[in-house]
Amino acid sequence: MEQNIVRPAEGKLGIMVVGCGAVATTFMTGVLMARKGLAKPIGSMTQYDKIRVGRGDDKKYLHYKDIVPLAKLDDIVFGTWDVYPQNAYQAAVYAEVLKAKDIEPVREELMAVKPLKAAFDRNYAKRLDGDNVKDCKTRWEMVVELQKDIQDFKRQHGCERVVVIWAASTEIYVPYDEAYHKTLAQLEAAMKSNDREHVAPSMCYAYAALTEGCPFIMGAPNTTVDIPAMWELAEKTHMPIAGKDFKTGQTLVKSGFAPIIKTRNLGLAGWFSTNILGNRDGLVLDEPANFHTKEVSKLSTLETICKADEQPDLYGNIYHKVRINYYPPRNDDKEGWDNIDIFGWMGYPMQIKINFLCRDSILAAPLLLDLTLLSDLAARAGRYGIQRFLSFFLKSPMHDYTRGEEAVNNLFEQYTMLKNAIREMGGYEADEEID
Ligand SMILES: NC(=O)c1ccc[n+]([C@@H]2O[C@H](COP(=O)([O-])OP(=O)(O)OC[C@H]3O[C@@H](n4cnc5c(N)ncnc54)[C@H](O)[C@@H]3O)[C@@H](O)[C@H]2O)c1
Repeated sequence: MEQNIVRPAEGKLGIMVVGCGAVATTFMTGVLMARKGLAKPIGSMTQYDKIRVGRGDDKKYLHYKDIVPLAKLDDIVFGTWDVYPQNAYQAAVYAEVLKAKDIEPVREELMAVKPLKAAFDRNYAKRLDGDNVKDCKTRWEMVVELQKDIQDFKRQHGCERVVVIWAASTEIYVPYDEAYHKTLAQLEAAMKSNDREHVAPSMCYAYAALTEGCPFIMGAPNTTVDIPAMWELAEKTHMPIAGKDFKTGQTLVKSGFAPIIKTRNLGLAGWFSTNILGNRDGLVLDEPANFHTKEVSKLSTLETICKADEQPDLYGNIYHKVRINYYPPRNDDKEGWDNIDIFGWMGYPMQIKINFLCRDSILAAPLLLDLTLLSDLAARAGRYGIQRFLSFFLKSPMHDYTRGEEAVNNLFEQYTMLKNAIREMGGYEADEEID
């Protein structure tokens, strides 16, 4: 075993969640309940998964915490920002994801998590009208206030380290623009000149987090840290960044199912994915400009698994469509339908239907735990910039597209990347190949 150079996970870890909605409060409640022994953090890789390290007679299957120094659930302190002032207890009750019996035992702790004023611009999410919002004249002022929030939080709660994770609403689509997003100098100039078109509020959170020495994770499909200017900032500050868009329901199924079609060399004619959901996320995504951000993220999955250029006969003409429909009666219980048109021997068509009756925030919560704990680990291991090993958790994983890198969307290849990174940070060799 090589020498382990990862700094230990000493002291408290602050997890500051942008947005105190359904996902954020389900995550916080689950962690607080789990540490009282009243619930189990099911679905969390860091709490359950065991991977092999070593080979032959030396091989062992260990939990991540026995391979690398991970922060403990007991050491976590939560903070949040939101457009609405309700504390995490009120927000959890409002979200109606969890039953009262699963919230009440940690009521006091949730009530103590009070949203700081949000860095918000209504043009980025028109359906929201809360007033717990910072009064800033420029984007740069937003950055400065957010930096102060992080410093104050760290001091008040005696945190050794803080991770910032975005679980706020999806913003309208901000496409990468070479004139504003290529270099850090451009981005800073745009923030200072209050360029509200090219600088989303989420970019201010990311900028503040990185400059305060906190890893930043983008859980929505926003392009926030998926621009070269932010990669430059992450390199400069030596901080990890990850994103984008939690891979929870339909895209999890897609990235796990598409490899079956590809591995058996079956043809794919079309994949139609539709969803109904009725929570506030669904309400925001009902706005076409916000949905577009999600659509771009969801559509990117198939093309890197079933590649047209490598297998034109099989994947040269895939019709891929994704729809999300706001349907209030279902609230957080999302229903996803996938209709997959495949073809086999001599081109004969077949169909596969998948109907996933899922719970959006129940699927997302463990991802927040894993992404925050693993980003904190990465920072202590001296890893910075885009953390590709976290692609496993993300719908539209980040990669350096300016250098021709491709996203890895195949769930099983992503899992190999995750295991190899844990092995390496634990001082073992990365011993599985990704073909
Ligand atoms: N649940 C899933 O399966 C899943 C999967 C992938 C991504 N996501 C993303 O996670 C995010 C959260 O989902 P949710 O169901 O909790 O939504 P939600 O609407 O319940 O919560 C989002 C919260 O963010 C707040 N907010 C919006 N803009 C803000 C800003 N600039 N600063 C601070 N707070 C802000 C809103 O007021 C709201 O309370 C969404 O972007 C969603 O697309 C969820």
